[in-house]
Parts: sequence; C-alpha cells; structure tokens
Amino acid sequence: MIENGKYSHGRKVAELEAALAAYTGAKFVIGVNSGTDALVLLLRAAGLRSGEEVVVPAFSFGATATSVVLAGGTPVFADIEPDGYGIDPAAVADAAGERTRFVMPTHLFSQLADIDRVLDVARRLGLTVVEDSAEAIGMRHRGAHAGLFGAGGVLSFFPTKTLGALGDAGAVLTDDPRIAGTVDALRHHGRFGATIADFPAISTETGLPGVNSKMDDIQAAVLLAKLTGLDDDITRRAELASRYTEALSDVAGVRKLPVVRPDSVFYVYVVEVDSRDDLAAHLAAKGVQTEVYYPTPLHLQPCFTGLGYRKGDFPNAENACRHTLALPLYPDMPVADCDRVCDSIRDFFQGRRG
Ligand SMILES: Cc1ncc(COP(=O)(O)O)c(C=O)c1O
Repeated sequence: MIENGKYSHGRKVAELEAALAAYTGAKFVIGVNSGTDALVLLLRAAGLRSGEEVVVPAFSFGATATSVVLAGGTPVFADIEPDGYGIDPAAVADAAGERTRFVMPTHLFSQLADIDRVLDVARRLGLTVVEDSAEAIGMRHRGAHAGLFGAGGVLSFFPTKTLGALGDAGAVLTDDPRIAGTVDALRHHGRFGATIADFPAISTETGLPGVNSKMDDIQAAVLLAKLTGLDDDITRRAELASRYTEALSDVAGVRKLPVVRPDSVFYVYVVEVDSRDDLAAHLAAKGVQTEVYYPTPLHLQPCFTGLGYRKGDFPNAENACRHTLALPLYPDMPVADCDRVCDSIRDFFQGRRG
C-alpha cells in the first residue's frame, strides 16, 4: 500500500467498501473521513435543504444533532425509550411539524432503536428515515443490517468502535444509487474522478458544494484486516456482557442492566446506577476506567440554546444522562478483569449501605 503511492481514496478504500458491502448487505458503501461527515453527507444527499427539520433523539452523541445543522437543517428533539435508549416512536409524531422532512433514529450502545415503529410513524407522517447507525456495526433485524431500513445509514470507525481504525474514518451505507452517487461526489470536492484542475467548488452533478472527506488508505487497510475478526470480536463482547449481567443482576444500587435481544451487539456495556459519578470515581481509584455516554442531553447543549428547549422537556433522556455508566468492554479483556470490575461495584454499594 505504501509502495503504490496512493494514500487517500485509493485501492484499499475501494476494497474496504466492497468488503463492508458484503458484510452489511448494503448495495453501496461510501468511505469517508468520519462518522460525523457520513451523517452530514448522507443528509445532504438524501435531500435535506436549508431550513428543513430533522427529528432526532434528545439522548445521543452530539454529532446526531450537529450533523443536521452542518447539513443546513434544524434538529427537532424527541425523548427516548427508557429501555434501550432509542428514539420513542410516539414522541416523533409530537415533535414533527410542517417543516419536518426527516427522522433520524440512533442505535445506541448495544441495540437497535424500535425501527419497525419508527418506520411506521415515518410512513404515516411522510418523513424520510436516515439512521445514525454509527455504533451499530453487526446489528441486524429481520435480516437487514442497521442503516439499511430507510434511505441510508452510517458507520463510524473511530478507534473505540466495535470496528475501529487507528484514527478517524466513517462510511455511508445505502441501497439507493442516487444517494450513493451524490455522497460519492460530495466527499471528493463535488466530482469524483475529476482532475485537480477541474475540481468545481460547486458540484456539477449535485448542485451542492462538495467537501474533502476522503478516507485514508492506511485506515482502510487496518479496517480490512480487523473486519476478518469482527464476528469473533462481537461474540467475545457478548460473552463478557453476559458475565457482567450475571454478576450485577442482584447488586442493589444497580438500577438497570442492558436489555439483551437477538439483535444486540455490545459496542459498550452500559448500566444505570445510583450515585453514578461517585461510583465512577470509586472505580477510577481502583484503576478501572469507565465512561459517561453522554452527560448532557442534546436539547440542553449550549449550541442549541437558541432552539428554546428547557430542562425537564425530555425526562427519559435526562435520566439517562444522570445515571448511565459504560463499564470496560473490549474483545481482549480478561474475564478476571470483568469480575474485578463487578466486585468493585458490589463493594461500592455495600460500603454505602453498611
Ligand atoms: C451515535 C454516534 N453518532 C455519530 C458519531 C460520530 O462518529 P465519528 O466520531 O466517527 O465522527 C458517533 C461516534 O463517535 C456516535 O457514537
């Protein structure tokens, strides 16, 4: 790869796109610079235009909502379901208004949002579904991979993801040739295959300004190598997750464990606990690194204050921000470490009671 001298948007990227198409069943996979770029370009290619609205969950990674703004639209927030953390399909109808064109469910942590009900609501309201499936590689439902239930979806290959690169990378998944062609053009200054001399600032194919969101071949090579072991990694993650579930199910202070369904893939193992921040500090003192995904709901992020939302608007999202904690989980994690984490959690809550 180094010898052939093409380090960006070259042969390895094309190989990875083909391999991911085979893995996910997507007709088209378009490699880009990050999951965030994938969301922005997907929304633009799927037809989001200035001033139009996209319903997004109030609990997610920031890019779920900022991508809408970067694509020229306005996010409209809806609450999540308390188990599983996906957008509440009933809340989508309440959030949607006259200017709403899209709904973007996010598949968080270890399972899909209730995609069948989201598709029903979207059909009823005439909305296009695009999925923030950045965390959802390997998650399937009714035989279809995450990201392929509506107009398209995305993958993030950020290093911590289930399939992680050695830096940033992402992809758009779609079965729609028009969307695929537009993302393909937009990622490369507006016109794929053009020479430097005739890169147009405005794409001739799409009429939309293009960007530089090409994937690096070195990342594609890493991802291709790791893709061969992905299903084994997913199995190992599931084994560790059930070990956590078994050990933590009777611990007072642990309010909620992840719901396990046939489509579960454990990108992270997230529990809901009392005294979350104190527990995280206790674990950190024992050398156990945890993570809070996500401490602030999207509707209360400073960049969205202008939209007029208030604390209390989305109780399930706000509760998740207060109580969720991701425990360590990675395929090479020794079982003994998993047990040690559980013992430390048990000690913490016993110490509080006694
Ligand atoms: C739900 C969700 N959406 C979007 C993204 C953005 O992906 P990236 O970090 O590759 O830009 C991520 C990952 O960080 C994510 O978890």
